[in-house]
Amino acid sequence: MSFAYRHGVLCAEDVPLDEIVRQHGTPCYVYSSAAIAAAYRQYANALRALDALICYSVKANSNLAILAQLARAGAGFDIVSGGELSRVLAAGGDPAKTLFSGVGKSEAEIERALASRIGCINVESAQELERVDRVARRLGRRAPIAFRINPDIDARTHPYISTGLRENKFGVPYADAERLYARAASLPGIDVVGIGCHIGSQLVASAPYAEAAGRMAALADRLASAGISLRHIDIGGGIGIRYKDEEPEPIAGFLDGALGMLAGRREKLIVDPGRSIVGNAGVLVTRVEYVKEGGARNFLVVDAAMNDLLRPALYGAWHDVKPVRQAAGVPASAYDVVGPVCESADFLAKDRALSATEGDLLCIMSAGAYGMVMSSNYNSRPRAAEIMVEGGRFRLVRQRETVEALFALETT
Ligand code: LLP
Repeated sequence: MSFAYRHGVLCAEDVPLDEIVRQHGTPCYVYSSAAIAAAYRQYANALRALDALICYSVKANSNLAILAQLARAGAGFDIVSGGELSRVLAAGGDPAKTLFSGVGKSEAEIERALASRIGCINVESAQELERVDRVARRLGRRAPIAFRINPDIDARTHPYISTGLRENKFGVPYADAERLYARAASLPGIDVVGIGCHIGSQLVASAPYAEAAGRMAALADRLASAGISLRHIDIGGGIGIRYKDEEPEPIAGFLDGALGMLAGRREKLIVDPGRSIVGNAGVLVTRVEYVKEGGARNFLVVDAAMNDLLRPALYGAWHDVKPVRQAAGVPASAYDVVGPVCESADFLAKDRALSATEGDLLCIMSAGAYGMVMSSNYNSRPRAAEIMVEGGRFRLVRQRETVEALFALETT
């Protein structure tokens, strides 16, 4: 266990969280390097016998220390912006093992991706195909591309993070794929290399994932008969983690159905997981500022807020809350854990049995994915510090922002 109690104190690997707070203050994100390595290994082991590439989805957590660790482990990357490309390069990632997804790539982003010799651009519309061709020809290059196909499959997850339905903005319609591939194959600036899909995030059922893989394989076969052979099939990310009582299958089991659909194929298999690599490898540590007994509810007002962790406000997401120090024999009461931001949606947890007094430390669990990356400076709140733990050691991997830095780009 990467986050477990020892002698009544919650630890990250071998380091008590209160020791980290003594040095770096709150709120802070704390990551376990061993947990990231273990999650990555689950993918690597499950895909060991295959020609496969694990492209970590940078949007889940883009801290350079995490990218560098994964690059050293052999990972490729799935990016969605020029900014993420810069991060991958700064962290020592291999551009040839990097895929560029996203519905709104600018000319400048496409140009930089090609100049960096990106592995593949995942094209999401007919219009984007023409743009990529134009930019590639201007640079005297052929752009390696895949289409991101919208397989029209219900991933059975939260509507905000479901991406593979016909009504979603992502990818090109399944029915248009063959026509688009034929067009792509005819363009001088385009080198057709693959096909991809991503049906949604926090998937707990593996059947839709396998179904999507099956649909990609069927399409690859039809393209092959039309004389277009692909070098890779990218079945996306999306494997869920346990936040509360979800029971996602272990990674190997989850992949089984999809691997069955792709058995015996020649194309390289690509997966692009984000949350399942980092989600349970990170926590957000915060301090109780006030215990506020309200009329209808009681509140723990803490120093982390929706600007630090947006998921509860945005999706109604549930994150477990644990005291850093277990209080022996103190009776618990029901509290909402809220931040100082001036919004009623500023909560981290609702109606939790906790016993806490002013100054106590609380730990918001499963915050490694879509935590820091979705943070903001709302209410002029500097972003939290980030700390990486490795066994008995820890190091600051992102300094807490200063207030001055927040308005350094402004003028009066
Ligand atoms: N590949 C593509 C093309 C994606 O759009 C995504 C996530 C992933 C891979 C990685 O998915 P994962 O393995 O992490 O589920 N902010 C939301 C999640 C948004 C996911 C967007 N796309 C949340 O906090 O739950």
